[in-house]
Amino acid sequence: MKTALITGISGQDGSYLTELLLAKGYVVHGIVRRSSMIGNTSRLDAVYQDPHDSGRRLFLHHGDVTDAGLLVNLIRDIRPDEVYNLAAQSHVRVSFDLPDYTANVTALGAIRLLEAVRASGIDTRIYQASTSEMFGTAAPPQHETTVFHPRSPYGVSKLFAHWATVNYRESYGMFAVNGIAFNHESPRRGETFVTRKITRAVARIAAGLEKRVYLGNLDAVRDWGYAPEYAEAMWLMLQHGEPVDYVIATGRAATVRDFADAAFSHAGLDWRDHVEHDDRYERPAEVPELVGDPAKIEREIGWKARVYWDELARIMVDADRNALRSGT
Ligand SMILES: NC(=O)c1ccc[n+]([C@@H]2O[C@H](COP(=O)([O-])OP(=O)(O)OC[C@H]3O[C@@H](n4cnc5c(N)ncnc54)[C@H](OP(=O)(O)O)[C@@H]3O)[C@@H](O)[C@H]2O)c1
Repeated sequence: MKTALITGISGQDGSYLTELLLAKGYVVHGIVRRSSMIGNTSRLDAVYQDPHDSGRRLFLHHGDVTDAGLLVNLIRDIRPDEVYNLAAQSHVRVSFDLPDYTANVTALGAIRLLEAVRASGIDTRIYQASTSEMFGTAAPPQHETTVFHPRSPYGVSKLFAHWATVNYRESYGMFAVNGIAFNHESPRRGETFVTRKITRAVARIAAGLEKRVYLGNLDAVRDWGYAPEYAEAMWLMLQHGEPVDYVIATGRAATVRDFADAAFSHAGLDWRDHVEHDDRYERPAEVPELVGDPAKIEREIGWKARVYWDELARIMVDADRNALRSGT
């Protein structure tokens, strides 16, 4: 039975990865931030196991990737076969307001974790959640050898973490890999990310609870995939024979306007009647077009996206409308 440690287990990807690993028979440990409310693990509700259950395989530990001592102790105690570093201040727009904090969590958090694994001296495979935001203004389609040009404190922080992962692999021979994931969404996406903001608004407008939603740049082009499939890619990368970095993407893209159109149309609404612009959601430096080239991961690992952005919009609208109806 394999053991995995997931930082960011309470996030969108962490919750899908936990379900995947538990289904594969893993023992899963996750780091959750202490909160004054218990709601910050709600994405894990479906797989939560009571601490008193004998035979449970999911263990949650209070912690934070800003606490190096905690990471060392946890890794020494758990001795995981696989570590997935998904913890991050992951919101690009917010990273302009919290640059120092974003760097501490998203950049330094990764090197703390790498160093904790190295110091523990155990044979562990590490997945680092890199991002298409590291490409910034690089011309699409972006692939593994495209030159990085990040355009936000988030992108810069992730690039540090990316190169730290490469450096630990090259310096110490560690099996440490970067999944350069393009945007991936789901009904569990955080409510302030643009896709989920749109699909929640569609549900509330269709129910007569709201009239409009305020968005920033409608021209931004993104390659949106379906988050559960990206959790599969993460796992597959750690089962591979060699430690290799891969772009994880669908290869198809649309504008925010296209996504809004698909989402509103699915509920029988016209986005032009309900979407308004608000400068507050513009970034100081925009990333115009992110479209991934997934040829390498398709060829070498056999992973391929199955859900594309328009179906994704419909999945998310249906989920938000059902949640509203059932009051969940
Ligand atoms: N989704 C995407 O499109 C995408 C694309 C490329 C890369 N990524 C990266 O992939 C990872 C997973 O993405 P996601 O969409 O699942 O993000 P998410 O929903 O925002 O989840 C982030 C997770 O990190 C945790 N976290 C934040 N600060 C922390 C800290 N100081 N110590 C420990 N944990 C902390 C959060 O805990 P709380 O629940 O307490 O906030 C949450 O569990 C992130 O690193 C993200 O940057 C995501």
